Amino acid sequence: MRIPEIIKEIQLNGLNSTPENAGDVDYSASRRAYSASFEGEGERKVSFVLEDLRQLVLEGRFDPGNAVALSIGGADGSDLRALLQKMPIRGGVLLEYAREAAAAARAKADLEGGQRIEVVEGDATQKKGEAVDVALNCSGGAKTVIVMCFGVLHELPTRSPDYREDRFFDIFFSKFESVLLYCAEPCAVPAFDYLGWPDEVEIRLPDLPEWKLRLVADHICLQRFGVGVSEDSARGGGWVVMRSNQAVEVLHKLIRFQDMQRFRHEMGERLTSFNGATMGRAIQASFGVNDVEMELMYRTSTGFRDAYREHGVEARASGGQWPLLPPPITHCRLILRRLRQSGAPLCPTEGG
Ligand SMILES: C[S@@+](CC[C@H](N)C(=O)[O-])C[C@H]1O[C@@H](n2cnc3c(N)ncnc32)[C@H](O)[C@@H]1O
Repeated sequence: MRIPEIIKEIQLNGLNSTPENAGDVDYSASRRAYSASFEGEGERKVSFVLEDLRQLVLEGRFDPGNAVALSIGGADGSDLRALLQKMPIRGGVLLEYAREAAAAARAKADLEGGQRIEVVEGDATQKKGEAVDVALNCSGGAKTVIVMCFGVLHELPTRSPDYREDRFFDIFFSKFESVLLYCAEPCAVPAFDYLGWPDEVEIRLPDLPEWKLRLVADHICLQRFGVGVSEDSARGGGWVVMRSNQAVEVLHKLIRFQDMQRFRHEMGERLTSFNGATMGRAIQASFGVNDVEMELMYRTSTGFRDAYREHGVEARASGGQWPLLPPPITHCRLILRRLRQSGAPLCPTEGG
């Protein structure tokens, strides 16, 4: 059980608990281990993209031969390789800031079908313009861009200077006639009772006294939400009350990761920061509500559901009403499509 280790670390180091400050560990080794944990993951994650693209081909709305793919934070490029091996897309570009992951992608850049993956190394916000130029050049001016973001957008608010959720994708919509954007991210708890948890919940874990759960929750919430949990949040019987986003954040960090280095890394970001509805609506508002189709799907990830069960987590609506709540929504998939006939203007039509 790793929770006692987390509690010890918080008691010893408090808010200074970061990978860089850990002192007793090789930080570059932990970065390599972090990058390695995503190796080959892309193949599984890209399957909903392939499903959607195949449907669009059947409908005659998408021509792979006139498209280039771009993966942001795609680690070793396994998402691009899987996509390019299964569709005759002109080429792929990986935009990734982890040196180790970028090197792994470069080592496998040439694919059997003659396609190639170009790697742009650096921060997503700073380098997306360069990545777009590379995508246009390497594809001979493809008209359609397929943008994939898997598990990266929730990181950018804390890991990418000048990142703005509502403007991040503008350049893709400005430079390409057609844009297919696929995001799969851990997300904020959706604000609909029938889908998610109520706004305020009580949680408990077996054998974890309230004061300990409160201590960890306070630490995590202070660091990632700027406000801790209230002083009277302990409710007796092991239950601690908090906002549902805070509770999901606390659970992600307590039950999902196997070692302390990963815990420290995860403390650098908020897994409940991404709001697919807000992002999708902002893009529609900028580029035309009738021009940009949006699909948003919510789910509980298998990894989270398994960990929730293994750790015996319980949750209930605040105030102590039963029955227990099911595991919360933790992830979402956002698809945005602007599919244009060649030659159509890139700016939205008036009133669009
Ligand atoms: C959670 S991992 C997901 C990796 C891969 N997309 C997957 O789903 O398996 C997040 C990835 O985003 C990259 N990343 C994080 N912040 C970034 C930034 N500011 N610019 C570019 N890449 C970034 C990380 O290096 C890492 O490879």
